[in-house]
Amino acid sequence: MVRIEAIIRPAKLDEVKTALDEAGVHGMSVLDIRGAGKQKGYTQHYRGSEYTVNLLPKLMLIVVVPDASQELVISAIADAAHTGEIGDGKIFVTPISEAVRIRTGERGETAA
Ligand SMILES: Nc1ncnc2c1ncn2[C@@H]1O[C@H](COP(=O)(O)OP(=O)(O)OP(=O)(O)O)[C@@H](O)[C@H]1O
Ligand SMILES: [Mg+2]
Repeated sequence: MVRIEAIIRPAKLDEVKTALDEAGVHGMSVLDIRGAGKQKGYTQHYRGSEYTVNLLPKLMLIVVVPDASQELVISAIADAAHTGEIGDGKIFVTPISEAVRIRTGERGETAA
């Protein structure tokens, strides 16, 4: 199993959720986060003075899926979250060694 963590624009959540549903992915976690990428946020002007907004609001989506679904899920998220403008987000993938469905005690891919 792999944990696919996608940081996306909040406005893209509905499109990404639809794409994941079409890819057969139903279990997910969504977290409100703030973050910065290569541009380190952006510069704003307020009452004549300039200041830097370091952390912009983003959403983090976490899905744990079988290894065999990795590429399908990555492309579903990347296509749905893409605008082509800076700040589209990132996808990070890490291995997962175990999953447990607490209600049934199932383990592994059937529990995820
Ligand atoms: N290296 C990183 N580690 C952890 N989180 C990151 C990293 N890079 C980006 N993020 C997260 O992803 C969000 C969006 O990043 P963003 O898409 O702006 O990346 P970027 O590298 O600046 O690409 P772009 O040039 O397209 O804007 C950030 O606000 C932050 O939450
Ligand atoms: Mg950026």
